[in-house]
Amino acid sequence: MPDVDRDYDLVLLGATGFTGRLVAEDLTRELGPSGLRWAIAGRDRTRLEAVREDLAAISPDATPDGLEVVDVHDRPALTDLARRTRVIATTVGPYARHGEDVVAACIAAGTDYVDITGEPAFVHRLLRDHHDAAVDAGVRIVNSCGFDSVPHDLGAQLAVEQLPDDEPVELRGFVSAKGRFSGGTFTSAIEAMADRDSLRGPRLDAGPGRRVGSLPRRIQRVPAIDGWGVPLPTIDPLVVLRSAAALPDYGPAFRYGHFARTSNPAVAGGMVAGVGLVAALAQVGPGRALLHRLAPDQGEGPDEATRAEGRFRVTFLGTSPSASTRVEVRGGDPGYTETSKMLAEAARSLVEDRDALPDRAGVLTTATAFGPVLRERLQARGITFTVAA
Ligand SMILES: NC(=O)c1ccc[n+]([C@@H]2O[C@H](COP(=O)([O-])OP(=O)(O)OC[C@H]3O[C@@H](n4cnc5c(N)ncnc54)[C@H](OP(=O)(O)O)[C@@H]3O)[C@@H](O)[C@H]2O)c1
Repeated sequence: MPDVDRDYDLVLLGATGFTGRLVAEDLTRELGPSGLRWAIAGRDRTRLEAVREDLAAISPDATPDGLEVVDVHDRPALTDLARRTRVIATTVGPYARHGEDVVAACIAAGTDYVDITGEPAFVHRLLRDHHDAAVDAGVRIVNSCGFDSVPHDLGAQLAVEQLPDDEPVELRGFVSAKGRFSGGTFTSAIEAMADRDSLRGPRLDAGPGRRVGSLPRRIQRVPAIDGWGVPLPTIDPLVVLRSAAALPDYGPAFRYGHFARTSNPAVAGGMVAGVGLVAALAQVGPGRALLHRLAPDQGEGPDEATRAEGRFRVTFLGTSPSASTRVEVRGGDPGYTETSKMLAEAARSLVEDRDALPDRAGVLTTATAFGPVLRERLQARGITFTVAA
């Protein structure tokens, strides 16, 4: 039901950026006559007006109802905006630099929040400093609603649903993806890698009698995928483990391993060396400067033709003492086409599915905030979640 006290159901912050524009386009194409009241927001009115003009060319009937100028470091203005909407979706990154005030404003205003951060340090800071306040305010702060980490978190949840919930579970996810990065993603990744400790993850409290942890991180040959798994140190395994700690259905003892998939052991070695080199460069000022010089400019990203060739697949192999399962999640261009769909659907779900969502508040993962509700929305948008027969 519309909240008549608020001007909007949804505000999209960062609409002038590369990913934000794609989210705005997705909403314009998909909203149709839903009646959802929405606004685009950013720090520059002229750029926002240009975005609104482009959206009108897609569908004059579903263009945003409002255009809001706000800087993400102006806490009073942000809080005022947050009070006028039910949900804020933000693509303003790097989040560790630009994200915290938006979260604090949402909690102060009783407004739900979604983002597409892949930066572990940012999420850990929110868990430490804002989780309790979000719980008290009954607000959902849901991070990582893009390729980081929706397919991994919701795919792992689907795999767990296939296994007995009273047995220990071991689950491994193997990711392959084809796509290019935007300047914003590059910048955020370099800044995230500079903070090496953040990948250790927060302390997980799975409750009495339950254990949640990582599987050994080593390169391995995996006959079931006819290839090799290379440990992938992204935010995704941290998200899956947080979901497992929060949800008793993941069983009394849950262990997860997250890997890049490759068919060639030489490529596997090269991947480890490449990730290690970039991580080492990101630790020191001159190395970081070199990486920033190699990155595309912020605001730029892969063109439509490149995105049309993008795709991803995540295969989950799960076992418990009495059962096993295989789940596949597949979609198109992971970083932008599918990420923009994922964020748009997550934001709409907070508005449109309120009564069907788990009754939970705080700093949440997609599995704990949405569970199967978001999975079904994404299936309807062509991102497939399949359980092997
Ligand atoms: N999870 C995933 O899978 C995934 C996928 C894609 C992207 N991402 C993340 O999404 C973020 C955005 O990426 P992108 O490529 O879209 O970046 P981008 O093109 O650089 O866009 C950044 C946006 O933030 C806005 N912004 C910057 N500072 C601001 C401020 N002080 N106040 C208000 N707005 C401000 C920019 O506004 P102006 O236009 O005025 O400069 C722009 O709209 C990155 O952190 C990236 O890592 C995650």
